[in-house]
Amino acid sequence: MKAIIYESNTGHAERYAVVLAEKLNLPCHNINDAKKALPKGESVIFIGWVFANRIMGLDKAQKRWKVAAVGAVGLFPDVKANEEILIAENKLTVPLFYLRGGIEFSKLGMLQRKLLKAVHDSMVRSDDPEKKQAAELLEKDADFFSEDNLSAIAAFGLTQP
Ligand SMILES: Cc1cc2nc3c(=O)[nH]c(=O)nc-3n(C[C@H](O)[C@H](O)[C@H](O)COP(=O)(O)O)c2cc1C
Repeated sequence: MKAIIYESNTGHAERYAVVLAEKLNLPCHNINDAKKALPKGESVIFIGWVFANRIMGLDKAQKRWKVAAVGAVGLFPDVKANEEILIAENKLTVPLFYLRGGIEFSKLGMLQRKLLKAVHDSMVRSDDPEKKQAAELLEKDADFFSEDNLSAIAAFGLTQP
């Protein structure tokens, strides 16, 4: 394992990447800087934020490096059904580790806020009580970052050559 590469919109994925890199004693690069810093084909762990179930930056990272595992940083709770959706939507064939991030509305652009408002409103209208309840997560700032969430991906990283 040569490095941790990340793409972050508002900072949660970056925090996870920085702390994981410290734990594994590896360099940590934003995906844009990594192009200069890390040769093609090197083995990396990629951490990206989730936008409409897509792990942002993953395609780009997979084209350039050997992504051995993926950390997905999203707002919603860490439940198996959510992980299954992320695996399918992102066509993952390497291990996925879900890292719960958070939401900070002041850091979002107008378009992203509008998108989230539309998602929120459709969740409120849902017949599924779990979805209805989860809509509350899109109503105010929250931060679910926890170093403990990194234990599984850190253990995986330690097993990699
Ligand atoms: C437009 C938009 C779409 C999002 N879609 C999802 C989603 O599908 N699933 C999820 O768990 N979180 C979703 N989120 C929440 C982000 O993944 C979450 O805020 C994450 O912590 C962002 O990481 P970052 O701070 O590194 O950018 C979305 C956020 C935005 C702004």
